[in-house]
Amino acid sequence: MYRTNTCGELNMNNEGQNVVLCGWVQKSRDLGGMTFVDLRDRYGITQLVFNMETNKELCEKARKLGREFVVQVEGKVRERSNKNLKMFTGEIEIEVIKLNILNRSEVPPFTIEEETDGGEELRMKYRYLDLRRNSVKNNILLRHRVSQEVRKYMDSIGFIEVETPILIKSTPEGARDFVVPSRMQPGTFYALPQSPQTLKQLLMVAGFDRYFQIVKCFRDEDLRADRQPEFSQIDCEMSFVERNDILETFEGLAKYLFRQIKGIEFSEPFLRLSYNEAMEFYGSDKPDLRFGMRFIDLTEIVKGHNFGLFDTSEYTGAICAEKCSEFTRKQLDELTEFVKKPQIGAKGLIYVRYNTDGTFKSSVDKFYSNDELKKWAGLTNARPGDLILLLAGDKKKTLTALSELRLEMGNRLGLRKRDVFFPLWVVDFPLLEWDEEEKRFFAMHHPFTSPVPEDIPLMESDPGNVRANAYDLVINGVEIGGGSIRIHDASVQKIMFKILGFSEEEANEQFGFLLNAFKYGAPPHGGVAFGFDRWVAMFGGQDSIRDFIAFPKNNSGRDVMLDTPAQISPKQLDELQLNINLKK
Ligand code: AMO
Repeated sequence: MYRTNTCGELNMNNEGQNVVLCGWVQKSRDLGGMTFVDLRDRYGITQLVFNMETNKELCEKARKLGREFVVQVEGKVRERSNKNLKMFTGEIEIEVIKLNILNRSEVPPFTIEEETDGGEELRMKYRYLDLRRNSVKNNILLRHRVSQEVRKYMDSIGFIEVETPILIKSTPEGARDFVVPSRMQPGTFYALPQSPQTLKQLLMVAGFDRYFQIVKCFRDEDLRADRQPEFSQIDCEMSFVERNDILETFEGLAKYLFRQIKGIEFSEPFLRLSYNEAMEFYGSDKPDLRFGMRFIDLTEIVKGHNFGLFDTSEYTGAICAEKCSEFTRKQLDELTEFVKKPQIGAKGLIYVRYNTDGTFKSSVDKFYSNDELKKWAGLTNARPGDLILLLAGDKKKTLTALSELRLEMGNRLGLRKRDVFFPLWVVDFPLLEWDEEEKRFFAMHHPFTSPVPEDIPLMESDPGNVRANAYDLVINGVEIGGGSIRIHDASVQKIMFKILGFSEEEANEQFGFLLNAFKYGAPPHGGVAFGFDRWVAMFGGQDSIRDFIAFPKNNSGRDVMLDTPAQISPKQLDELQLNINLKK
């Protein structure tokens, strides 16, 4: 037996017991005649003590232990004189009588402590060492807990977990595919699934009724903090359901996870906001509703005062920041710089200070009287002490810029608290998106998304205004999941392909297997997929999903530990009958 206990479980109840522990040397210190070693494993840290007076030889051996040596010790649990009540094991130490070095370690390339001296690149290269650090380790443990709870809940409501293949054919999620060459059919390729979308629909045709899977998905797209090329979804599909059935079922999952993982109870149903409302009031289809600052449309009321920008703008919108009338000139300049950044693209920022004494001071005083500004204050619900911020221009761009400004204000005012969660469903997305460059419609979600039933007649007459029977779960400004009711009627699917510019042959070539299956009794069905990494990161209070994945890729899609993507050997290329002939 290597050990009797772990490094995280002994306390005063074990005083006097003889124990054997194994673990890694976190650090050691010599104090006069004593040597103290912190021994670490997954479960915690236990202090070991070696005494020069009672066992010189052993103490000298302990003094030679380096960081991250793997050791086994035998000894007696005793009360510590210098207690650390913050640690579960902080009241005891092990008086060691036997020390066995199981393995030595080179000096690690960075210190394995919370405040590490290792930069991102180094930590990723030695990820197995990084994973020894508490913060990263705890994220992985959290991920495990969430996955167990998901499985428990889904099983309890009759969902079965079915694995689907990884070597498949292109899926319709809209990103680029990762592809794998076939040796047995030279010159042909598998695609890795961007999601198991079509396969889960086939499982509904097969009659499985309620499916879920925690599954790897692969998308070759530009990476961000909440995007990895290889990520996991909680993928789900149900038969004989309407939108409301799905929203209620998965609201149940969300509430269960919040309760189990965070101890948070949501007793009210989640807010449902239409896509149009989300855009109009927050300029985003994933609004962060932890705070207000809802947009107020002032387009008409500000016109006619010889202020060129407002007179000529398609849209003028305002937000009201409570208790910010005393923002300094410098702060307002910083905000102006912020909205003028190329990625935000506003022309400028107009402000109105509603001073605590009831007077107004604005950057457009020349054009608007106090009475006018008072009207704006009335419309924006501003009170003395508040600050009104306005942006104007092309409607779509201005809504987006105002959304960025709102989030920036939320950050500056500390309104985006990590321990507050505001989940909502965004519903009624447009079915189609017009692409100005290609002059054609694209499916906003994917081509199997059903329109809301009452909009089906509009599909041919006014496709741009057809609403999709689709929904997203948004929490704190992050798209946690999305899904839709699917088309199961061949005639509606036909119109959809026509609008998307697919000929019958093209549709058959790409999705023939699904369209064929639909000829044999497809039940009405729909589903949803949640970004598992995103959900876990949110529970862990972080924006980046990277530290919630054991072995993630960096921003260029590289695994710096495995040093991949990499070239393959000439022999492998030969077997695949491929020549590499890179285009310049
Ligand atoms: P969608 O493409 O919206 O829908 O993806 C579902 C959820 O997956 C997460 N996600 C990602 N997480 C990390 N890195 C990525 N690169 C990444 N891309 C997406 C998001 C997103 O909400 N088949 C449909 C679902 C359905 O219709 O049932 C689908 O995949 O949290």
